[in-house]
Amino acid sequence: MPNLVAVIMAAGKGTRMKSKLPKVMHSLAGKTLIEHVLDTVNQVGIESPLVIVGHGREVIETRISDRAELVVQTEQLGTGHAVMQALPYLDGAQTVLVLSGDQPLLKTETLQALIESHEAQGVSATVLTAFMDQPFGYGRVIKNEEFVVKIVEEKDASIDQRLINEINTGTYCFKGSALKEALVKITTQNAQGEYYLTEVFDVLIKLGEKVLAYCTHDSNEALGINSRGQLAEAEAILRDRILDHWMSEGVTVVDPSSTFIDADVELTQDVTILPFTRLMGKTMIAEDAVIGPQTSLENCAVGCGSEVTYTMAKDAVIGERCHIGPFAYLRPGTKLEAEVKVGDFVEIKNSWIEMGSKVPHLSYIGDTHVGKSVNIGAGTITCNYDGVNKHPTKIGDNAFIGSNTNLVAPLEVGEHAVTGAGSTITKNVPARALAVERSQQMIREHWHKRKDEIGG
Ligand code: UD1
Ligand code: CA
Repeated sequence: MPNLVAVIMAAGKGTRMKSKLPKVMHSLAGKTLIEHVLDTVNQVGIESPLVIVGHGREVIETRISDRAELVVQTEQLGTGHAVMQALPYLDGAQTVLVLSGDQPLLKTETLQALIESHEAQGVSATVLTAFMDQPFGYGRVIKNEEFVVKIVEEKDASIDQRLINEINTGTYCFKGSALKEALVKITTQNAQGEYYLTEVFDVLIKLGEKVLAYCTHDSNEALGINSRGQLAEAEAILRDRILDHWMSEGVTVVDPSSTFIDADVELTQDVTILPFTRLMGKTMIAEDAVIGPQTSLENCAVGCGSEVTYTMAKDAVIGERCHIGPFAYLRPGTKLEAEVKVGDFVEIKNSWIEMGSKVPHLSYIGDTHVGKSVNIGAGTITCNYDGVNKHPTKIGDNAFIGSNTNLVAPLEVGEHAVTGAGSTITKNVPARALAVERSQQMIREHWHKRKDEIGG
């Protein structure tokens, strides 16, 4: 049993969210609430915390079962009851960290400081607190000088107690043995008829134990997500935090008010983000790239010095010094090597385009391997779908695809081959050959004069 164990409470329904999803599965800056808490816990060195699940546990399990040990709370009888379910797993743990799955803005450094303060003071319990201008809904922390005397829930508090601004964030550190001893003594004698974890503090104090509060100065960290309004509030706070972080790392964000960057996105010094841009999931942008305006990238990698303008892309890799957009649509499986150009109204799906090739306008390229220095004329379409199956297309290095060519897959166009504009190519084109599929052009001389004669 490791000395430090974490228990994350995530079994509640989240009634106030009014959702079919369990509360902790709602998304914030690209990952679920519970994943935010798990990441923070991992960063203080706890690899596989215990997560108490109950309501909607199948959905939570699918998402996090590989990174946490799940403990089921069949009936949700309160936060104290939630932690009771973990007791069999806590034997021998010196310090038990308890966190709420609905408190995603807690910072790693604060959690680390809470643990250090708790262990340094040698007390039985330490509650993480914050001062809030609007403490409504939170448990209030009543203190006698430095020590905690009691934590009172909003619904149980007297008018005077409700005036207290120091609140319980829902994150705690306990001495393992003390938590075990106190949990079995808590009752349901309160306004909500629940087992409150906060009653552990009363029990410990009555046993003559010392309990302390550790206060974070950033009250945003305490925000508990109970409603959609609080979810939006957390999104705004986290968004500012993420933007401030990247700006301090040397990223230019021209208009923070119209820029959205998910928590797991990675940027590099001297990246520029232009207005109305959204970077999602695990997107990575390398040095000197310029992204936007009006661009949305999800799980994409963009190489050094590339420009991506008015573009939508998902699960795509863009190499160095590429020019993408305006109005490009890169779908999953797109891989563009260095110096590729993808221009306006071009859609690319599941295709690999090698160095220096160009698809400048109005094309659909799907299930295709395009070699190096290929030019694909305007309006080219890879006809990859026969109504039943998808088929591949291969275009060799230095090929030149004439404008408005239909490439009917499966098809190979050899190196240095040329297709005539407007052709529908159904047979493989050998290297260095010209393939034209087009009826002879007809010329009728003096056509206009004839029209005049018949009065057209
Ligand atoms: C709780 C605290 C309150 C604190 C606030 C901070 C108690 C009694 N109150 O109130 O002092 O200010 O958090 O945000 O602890 N959960 C379970 N099983 C249950 C009940 C809850 O796992 O039976 C989980 C929920 O899923 C949630 C967390 O525990 O992730 C907190 O529960 P919630 O109902 O949101 O508590 P609050 O009323 O916000
Ligand atoms: Ca809560």
